[in-house]
Amino acid sequence: MTIKLTVNGTEHDLDLPEGMPLLWVLRDRLGLTGAKYGCGIAQCGACMVHVDGSPRPSCITPVETLDGAQVTTIEGVEGKEAEAVRAAWQGIDVPQCGYCQSGQIMSAIALLREVPEPSDADIDERMSGNLCRCAAYMRIRQAIKDAARNV
Ligand code: FES
Ligand code: FES
Repeated sequence: MTIKLTVNGTEHDLDLPEGMPLLWVLRDRLGLTGAKYGCGIAQCGACMVHVDGSPRPSCITPVETLDGAQVTTIEGVEGKEAEAVRAAWQGIDVPQCGYCQSGQIMSAIALLREVPEPSDADIDERMSGNLCRCAAYMRIRQAIKDAARNV
């Protein structure tokens, strides 16, 4: 099966087995290891990327559904929201072990693009697909608010 996929602005023609999850393509074929494997069943958000601008858990997304799609990973995400989120994350040193963080950041960027001044309820709702085993939730929420002020 041949798939055309644009990842972080670079177009790829990929020959892949049917049913291969996007996460496998990113990590094993393209060497983009920022998106992590956590649960494999769309419950933790560690594998979150943007597909055509919307957050998507890549672990359950069969790549054949994405022919012609634009995929953005933590390695390539750009724009004012991405810059503000990166700065805010560094500013208050959000990560603990760090495993969930690329997924958290991708969801936070998507949130701020849609809701520039998110309330606590907005943050709870939009970030509910991203779990953190280290429970860095208070710092994640604070960093999203800091980023919103600086976009
Ligand atoms: S690994 Fe994809 S949501 Fe958990
Ligand atoms: S920082 Fe460790 S899982 Fe979130």
